[in-house]
Amino acid sequence: MSFIRFKDQTIKDFGEQWLKYTDNEGYYGSLELFSDILSPFLKPDELRGCRVAEIGSGAGRIVNMLLEAGVNHIVAIEPSDAFEVLCRNIRKPEKVTCLNITGDQLPAYGDLDYIFSIGVLHHISNPAPVVKAAFRALRPGGHFLIWLYGKEGNGLYLTFIRPLRVLTKRLPHFLLVFLVEIIYWPLVLYIRLCRRLPLPLKGYMFSVLEKMSPEKRRLIIYDQLNPEYAKYYTKFEAEKLLSDGKFEDVRIHHRHGYSWTVIGTKPLT
Ligand SMILES: C[S@@+](CC[C@H](N)C(=O)[O-])C[C@H]1O[C@@H](n2cnc3c(N)ncnc32)[C@H](O)[C@@H]1O
Repeated sequence: MSFIRFKDQTIKDFGEQWLKYTDNEGYYGSLELFSDILSPFLKPDELRGCRVAEIGSGAGRIVNMLLEAGVNHIVAIEPSDAFEVLCRNIRKPEKVTCLNITGDQLPAYGDLDYIFSIGVLHHISNPAPVVKAAFRALRPGGHFLIWLYGKEGNGLYLTFIRPLRVLTKRLPHFLLVFLVEIIYWPLVLYIRLCRRLPLPLKGYMFSVLEKMSPEKRRLIIYDQLNPEYAKYYTKFEAEKLLSDGKFEDVRIHHRHGYSWTVIGTKPLT
């Protein structure tokens, strides 16, 4: 029952978010960032000519990154009201099939080379059916790559964000924007301090946040505070998500010391 409440409210929250933050400009939507997300398991070049899917496409930045990498066709899944933003933002619509469904409803194509789910499964309270659907949709030997919030490396951050989120996920948009503005300036200062001191999340600040435009930094703060459901995965839980879903050769990378990139392969037989 609570699965359903979390699911419906989280999808609604993202629908509202992407209707407000519609563009994917700058480093936030760049192939350079995509390369960083895929590393060390894949390079964008390896996706040329592939048939892929993305589960939880939001405003479409990953879809456009995949198009830039040269994929042949993408199935883009987005269940929220942001579906219209996604369809509008896609650069080569002839190469994309957009479906306004949840990840567990991904059709069992059985011929996809890769499926991606970037920043999505940690917002789904029961992700196992989504992993199962991804498994069915891949060809034997196909790969599922996911990116998740990590628990390890986020200790200090979580002591602040967890109590704050109890309040912020209930705030109306205009109040949340106001709070984001209050947090934004100390964050800019923190990024600068990271240049001189070995502070927590230094790797993330330098490799990701510093490269974002002010507008996208604000979106990232908003995105942390807005959704009803967000889970921070331990390494064990992150690997288990794919190994429990019958994926083999599951490999995991602690991206910038604060998050998990995990890849698994559908067995050949
Ligand atoms: C943080 S956004 C990530 C969007 C995109 N992958 C990106 O990196 O820009 C998470 C997205 O997952 C979607 N989502 C939430 N629950 C989902 C579900 N059960 N199945 C598929 N997508 C879901 C949300 O609507 C939202 O657009």
